[in-house]
Amino acid sequence: MRLVLVGPPGAGKGTQALFLASHFSIPHISTGDIMRANIKAGTPLGLEVKAYMERGELVPDSVTNEMVRDRLNEPDTASGFLLDGFPRNVGQAEVLRAILSEKKTPLHAVLELSIKTSEIVARLSGRRICRNCGRAWHVDFETTQVAGICDACQGELYQRDDDKEEVITRRLEVFEEQTAPIISFYRTEGLLISISASGSVADITERAISALSRIR
Ligand code: AP5
Repeated sequence: MRLVLVGPPGAGKGTQALFLASHFSIPHISTGDIMRANIKAGTPLGLEVKAYMERGELVPDSVTNEMVRDRLNEPDTASGFLLDGFPRNVGQAEVLRAILSEKKTPLHAVLELSIKTSEIVARLSGRRICRNCGRAWHVDFETTQVAGICDACQGELYQRDDDKEEVITRRLEVFEEQTAPIISFYRTEGLLISISASGSVADITERAISALSRIR
């Protein structure tokens, strides 16, 4: 299964990716996670992308496209992949099509998680991430047994810099201006499957698996 997840910031892409990647036995490739890991490790790539991410702006395509090309050349993608956060504009979608066409491994589907802006803001402003394993929790909707500590690995939870209210507003604008056009792009390509991302995490996973099972 070669799959792209698309949806606004906070739609639940990372949360659903965890379950979908496990269900289909494919690697979850999140460009945001790769960039944050580089920032944490202090690599040259991390230094280059940090300021863009803190402002809620897209990192330049020249950086992102090469990062994804390299990742898709890793052997674990032979069985497929779940791309989360890429592509994020029509230029990136065209680059992805070219990379996959060279490898003769086209996408099977693009799953759109659709959700109202009011729900997004509540999800992002209460999100907490584990410093150790990167899992997302929520102070109201996905709580941990001990406040501030990850249930999965006991790591410390923190709030992402770009989950502050003023940056959330900019990320939503960037989504509308630059990322939303890829939804029409993939509709035209006949690859788009849209589901509602409202409701419980388990209900959305079930919805997604059922929609994706029909294309196999
Ligand atoms: P990235 O890391 O990709 O962030 P994003 O797309 O903004 O998405 P998020 O991670 O914020 O949200 P999500 O949809 O994964 O939601 P989640 O599951 O965590 O990108 C960050 C930045 O990196 C970009 O701004 C850009 O600078 C850069 N970047 C990355 N890729 C790039 C690219 N291709 N090109 C250029 N720049 C790039 O859920 C959110 C919260 O809601 C959590 O707390 C969760 O617990 C909770 N939640 C989830 N589902 C539910 C539910 N059903 N009910 C209640 N709560 C829920």
